Amino acid sequence: MNRKGIILAGGSGSRLYPLTKVISKQLLPIYNKPMIYYPISNLIMSRIKEILIISSPHHIKLYKNLLGNGENLGLKFSYKIQKKPNGIAEGLILAEKFLKGSNFCLILGDNIFFGKDIKKKFLNASNSESQSIFGKKVNHPNKYGVLKFKNGKVNKIIEKPKSLVSKYAVTGIYFYNNSAIEIAKKLKPSYRNELEITDLNNQILDKNELNIHLLNNEQYWYDAGNHSDYVKTINHVYNYENEKQLVGCLEIEAFKSSFISKKKLLKYINNKSPFYKKLKNIL
Ligand code: TTP
Repeated sequence: MNRKGIILAGGSGSRLYPLTKVISKQLLPIYNKPMIYYPISNLIMSRIKEILIISSPHHIKLYKNLLGNGENLGLKFSYKIQKKPNGIAEGLILAEKFLKGSNFCLILGDNIFFGKDIKKKFLNASNSESQSIFGKKVNHPNKYGVLKFKNGKVNKIIEKPKSLVSKYAVTGIYFYNNSAIEIAKKLKPSYRNELEITDLNNQILDKNELNIHLLNNEQYWYDAGNHSDYVKTINHVYNYENEKQLVGCLEIEAFKSSFISKKKLLKYINNKSPFYKKLKNIL
């Protein structure tokens, strides 16, 4: 059965305030596209067609307006409200009906991934029957879930540790089997009253069923959820697009994954925005 996709585009966005006072965080621009385009493109490159967008009661309509049913891109979008930001792991519970027993990829709507061979990494995880998460070496790991190593192997993930555990943060893309929903349902809210994805990952890790892959130096990950990382992300995407290639471009990824024909891709190029002129170079 094909893997499905879930994008978490809710939350409070308080660290990006006042940018997020009237705009949903994952709709803020990252250079020339809305933020959510980037995780959608990661799902498309993982050959995932059916995608559930989860957002707050206030913002869900904006996503429907932006993305519609996805037909134009050969995709199928569904939408689900999360009443309150009860934690990332609640996304699995909210998606149960949509998933209908399928394995899936959960990706955070404010996480930006690009770089050399990233598609290969995500596609491998997507095609495999096993469950995978991705770590990345960062300067300030302690604001994330952090990989703790014993004898060269990860033996635990520590959420926002007080002291240095390792430099490897857990990124916001997770390939799970359907069985992860049952684990999510049994989680207890943490001290910050959220269902924690780290608790879920530790349970799968304890069962020896979690593959942990590391992104390399040429594979970039940004959590665009605070002002400084938001600007860094935009700068890097801008430079990367000008020096190397487009990233987060739904039309191109849909074409590369054979979700849309060349004829359909060419139609987009007639659009007036210079962004679409860039698509021409790809062909
Ligand atoms: P966070 O950045 O951890 O939380 P947040 O978006 O509420 O931001 P802040 O801490 O600045 O208030 O969330 C990571 C991603 O997951 C982000 O895309 C929002 C999403 N999310 C939900 O959709 N629902 C939730 O309950 C939580 C906690 C996060």
